[in-house]
Amino acid sequence: MVLMIYLEEIEKKALEDNVPIMQKEGLEFLINTINEHQGKHVLEIGSAVGYSAAMIALNTKAKVETIEIDQERYDEACANISALDLKDRVVIHHHDALDFPLEELEMGDFDCLFIDAAKAQYQKFFEKYMAVVAPGGICVVDNLDFHGMVFAIDEIKNRNTRQLVKKIKRFKDWILNHEQYDVEYHHIGDGICVIRRK
Ligand SMILES: C[S@@+](CC[C@H](N)C(=O)[O-])C[C@H]1O[C@@H](n2cnc3c(N)ncnc32)[C@H](O)[C@@H]1O
Repeated sequence: MVLMIYLEEIEKKALEDNVPIMQKEGLEFLINTINEHQGKHVLEIGSAVGYSAAMIALNTKAKVETIEIDQERYDEACANISALDLKDRVVIHHHDALDFPLEELEMGDFDCLFIDAAKAQYQKFFEKYMAVVAPGGICVVDNLDFHGMVFAIDEIKNRNTRQLVKKIKRFKDWILNHEQYDVEYHHIGDGICVIRRK
């Protein structure tokens, strides 16, 4: 009960501070997917304030290693994980995931890679971190519909948003047509895919 209240507080504060955290439907899907795969080690790119990492640790048997670029969010994530008594289940790194040295990862042999950071960089994160995903492991990527905008790029007025959505669409098309990967696409939350090596 106390845990639930604390988690609700994290959610509420994130909303107030404009920190984007995973939508309920998508998070539920991610947790079910990790449980189906009996995942033991999850690598998350983009911790924000540690909400999804905490939810994974509390609702699966997996340990989570997560990377966050922003100092303030990293500090808040560390405080939240400590307060939830999850320090032995969640490791947080403060770093740009694009130049984080892979040898500094503590867990290795990840069953699941979850990409939830800068959307324009999805392909770079994917190419870098699939190298530490065990054979048979999966990658889950969120926000692939970007509020439905991916289906109506020409109607986006703001130039920066249009560029970002184009990059998301480019990743989506690239991975859906990749000969080395099978992709399941789900219209859940903001569009989620589960990627497996063939
Ligand atoms: C959507 S939020 C993550 C939400 C979190 N997974 C949750 O659901 O609770 C994305 C986070 O990725 C972080 N981020 C963006 N680019 C990054 C990078 N290159 N390396 C690490 N973190 C990054 C942002 O600072 C932001 O906090």
